[in-house]
Amino acid sequence: MIPEMIITPNHKAWIDNAVEIILKLGNQAIRERGRFSLALSGGSTPQPVYQALALPHNLKRIILSRTHIFWSDERCVPPGDPQSNYRMAKLAMLENIPIPTANIHRIHGEISPEKGAADYHKQIDSFFQGGQPVFDLVLLGLGSDGHTASLFPNTSALQITDRWAAANQVEAQQAWRITLTFPVLASARQLLFLVNGEDKAEIVHQVIEDHDAEEKFPSARVAAQNPNTSWLLDKYAANQLTILE
Ligand code: 6PG
Repeated sequence: MIPEMIITPNHKAWIDNAVEIILKLGNQAIRERGRFSLALSGGSTPQPVYQALALPHNLKRIILSRTHIFWSDERCVPPGDPQSNYRMAKLAMLENIPIPTANIHRIHGEISPEKGAADYHKQIDSFFQGGQPVFDLVLLGLGSDGHTASLFPNTSALQITDRWAAANQVEAQQAWRITLTFPVLASARQLLFLVNGEDKAEIVHQVIEDHDAEEKFPSARVAAQNPNTSWLLDKYAANQLTILE
């Protein structure tokens, strides 16, 4: 079990805690089920965590041939585009570790959004043999508007409950995205929100403490739908939480 909330005194401790949680859950999954299904979050926050995981002293603590990498979401851009979440993870970690190519389940952002979403749904469905997907660990970020993955407020993907992945047009970003859907996030064995920095303190407070957060913020709805949701915050991102007073 991972504590519901972990607050670290600094950024290095935040990275170290993230690495320990990922490795702990990974080894537990491999021990109990023979494989570890991990969905990576995108954006900029998790990059140092991925870089730390790729360091030799961490890498030797997990069986890569039993580890499968997915993404919580992807921008609808080619894999080499600076906006690509795949590219960020590849440069930070994947190209530096001997993980089998077949274990990397990339979201195809270079094809049409609908085709990319259908393809990712099929990849997930096949990996979980046609049953309900149960990822061992899904990493999630938090946007300043309360979105997570690419589940943005007032967007169509919030309504999708019969597919594992959905294309989502995000007006606010003038962009298309592909995202895991609520049902997949709800059934994950563990969700881990990775959030740090002063600039996220307000939204962290609102998502965790506002009485109507679930109506306003997709991230709050995700957390409410999965009892195994944890928050890994540095003290700066946590500094507006009243529950700590
Ligand atoms: C993405 C992410 C998204 C991200 C948040 C936070 O593709 O951008 O998946 O949900 O986690 O927007 O982004 P930062 O980590 O860059 O603040």
